[in-house]
Amino acid sequence: MDLFEYQARDLFEAHGVPVLAGIVAQTPEEAKAAAEKIGGVVVVKAQVKVGGRGKAGGVKVAKTPDEAFQYASDILGMDIKGHTVHKVMIAQGADIAEEYYFAVLLDRSNRNYLAMCSVEGGMEIEQLAVERPEALARIAVDPGTGIDQAKAEEIVDAAGFAPELREGVVHAILKLWDVFVKEDATLVEVNPLVKTGSGEILALDGKVTIDENAGFRQAGHAALEDSAETDPLEAKAKEHDLNYVKLDGQVGIIGNGAGLVMSTLDVVAYAGEAHGGVLPANFLDIGGGASAEVMAAGLDVILNDSQVKSVFVNVFGGITACDAVANGIVKALEMLGDEANKPLVVRLDGNNVDEGRRILADANHPLVTLADTMDEGADKAAALANGK
Ligand SMILES: Nc1ncnc2c1ncn2[C@@H]1O[C@H](COP(=O)(O)OP(=O)(O)OP(=O)(O)O)[C@@H](O)[C@H]1O
Ligand SMILES: [Mg+2]
Repeated sequence: MDLFEYQARDLFEAHGVPVLAGIVAQTPEEAKAAAEKIGGVVVVKAQVKVGGRGKAGGVKVAKTPDEAFQYASDILGMDIKGHTVHKVMIAQGADIAEEYYFAVLLDRSNRNYLAMCSVEGGMEIEQLAVERPEALARIAVDPGTGIDQAKAEEIVDAAGFAPELREGVVHAILKLWDVFVKEDATLVEVNPLVKTGSGEILALDGKVTIDENAGFRQAGHAALEDSAETDPLEAKAKEHDLNYVKLDGQVGIIGNGAGLVMSTLDVVAYAGEAHGGVLPANFLDIGGGASAEVMAAGLDVILNDSQVKSVFVNVFGGITACDAVANGIVKALEMLGDEANKPLVVRLDGNNVDEGRRILADANHPLVTLADTMDEGADKAAALANGK
């Protein structure tokens, strides 16, 4: 999960990274009040989870609270690379002498962490990384030892900081490493890290990505979720502990086990080529226990997606055998009643498959078609989605 800059700033502050005051605002009135509270020059910053806000006109310096009001009304509602601005952060203005860059991230391909640092930070960092990669120091960080004093010094020296800046930058890096570890982040990036006119080192921007797999031990992270951005169907699926990802196609997919669901997506996409190019509408893994409740919850999510024209249920009976799954489907359709209004193709295989098929055949539900194989099921579901 990516965080907004204001959330990153709050985490930075909590872990002792030097930052300036920042207050989030959703209206120009709130922006003005925040500017009055902070006092002096402030910067009005669009809060969107995408880089390049400055260049897009989403970062403006306001000398008075009235100017903050004006800029906030300009920036709120603005579209930045497809992201609508719903919030701005009013940040205390910094007297910037120099801009640097620092990031630490999970380096998956090398099974390691990677720190990157440059004395030439700011809004052109992407260009710098391409045109003069040698100006961006890259230092591998062993997960076992992390960034300690010696490692932080190594990073700072590799980036080529002047000796008088060494202590301040090392301090900031050590605190940013604390954020990375204690918040279970996979990315902590600061661009720019600045030196002020008085020689202070400050983090003026923050990008943090949190590892959601660590949610169980990070009680505070649930509150960082952006409910406005979450798809309502994904939220509903999450409530029921379903692994659901919405896609753009027309064939709803329900399967058990991530591997089976992934291959079902492939098979449906392939079958769809012969049926007007229909595609899978989602990924939905109902997991091991395909009970009636879980099946009903899954169907409920999928049938509420207005793009869905047909549903393909592809289940391999294991510990939960096919007869239990079949009963689950029959009961789920009863529970949903009139809400179940799209054709369903069901393919069962595995433990107790004959009994499972018999249960579905006996139930003889008008919306349900049985398929013997995965290819046949995918073909039928694609044809139904294409209006046949
Ligand atoms: N509090 C501040 N005081 C003074 N200047 C600031 C402040 N915050 C940002 N700036 C200036 O605005 C520029 C752009 O801001 P910032 O880096 O936060 O947004 P950005 O353009 O979205 O960056 P990125 O592309 O890295 O996400 C900074 O490089 C800095 O020069
Ligand atoms: Mg930036």
